[in-house]
Amino acid sequence: MTNLHVKNLSHEFDYPLFNDINFSLQKGQSLAIVGVSGCGKSTLLHICSTLLKPEKGEVFYKEKSIYKQNSRSLLEIRRLDFGIIFQSHYLFKGFNAKENVQLANILSKTKFDKELLERLGVLHVLDQSIGSLSGGQQQRISIARVLSKKPKIIFADEPTGNLDGQTAREVMDVLFDYIKTNNASLMLVTHDRDLARKCHKAYELKSLALKELN
Ligand SMILES: Nc1ncnc2c1ncn2[C@@H]1O[C@H](COP(=O)(O)OP(=O)(O)O)[C@@H](O)[C@H]1O
Ligand SMILES: [Mg+2]
Repeated sequence: MTNLHVKNLSHEFDYPLFNDINFSLQKGQSLAIVGVSGCGKSTLLHICSTLLKPEKGEVFYKEKSIYKQNSRSLLEIRRLDFGIIFQSHYLFKGFNAKENVQLANILSKTKFDKELLERLGVLHVLDQSIGSLSGGQQQRISIARVLSKKPKIIFADEPTGNLDGQTAREVMDVLFDYIKTNNASLMLVTHDRDLARKCHKAYELKSLALKELN
């Protein structure tokens, strides 16, 4: 079943980024977009994840065009159904690692998932302040926050960009497992072609269009 459907999207800032692109993302599946820096990958991810209205085209979630809904419904989708992992993570510096995850649990009415934190390799740093964690540990705590709310679709923009190879693979395994177990979907933006090929579908954004990655 389709979880997200993108129809005839076009967008430009100083120069055109993409023109009339289409794709769909099924439940339980992952889709990757690669492309050179500045080609518009993050912009496309923002458009798909409720953060930016496209100049042309539509994004359908649950068969409804998301930008045709009022701002309250859009906010609700973003808050409850979508999980967005950014290149640079946003954590609350005034709280320790555990409190950061618990805050996400409170907002989404979910239980603290010790096993998830163990799998992400951050169980032993939960009592530490955010400032004392390495960049990679902070990224993993922020991924734990996103997964804690049990999103139906995860949008991840270079989620493993600041992790070493081994940790990056472990984190990606957690994300792939999550979508499989929860029948959720993953839209991944990455410059790593090998990682992209591990997704069910992989495209390259090039010359304003999406081409199947080979
Ligand atoms: N909010 C914005 N306002 C103006 N230009 C932007 C904005 N966001 C991105 N851009 C420009 O759009 C182009 C594509 O950016 P981006 O989507 O971040 O590319 P990528 O993620 O592939 O590196 C860049 O030239 C960037 O400067
Ligand atoms: Mg980007």
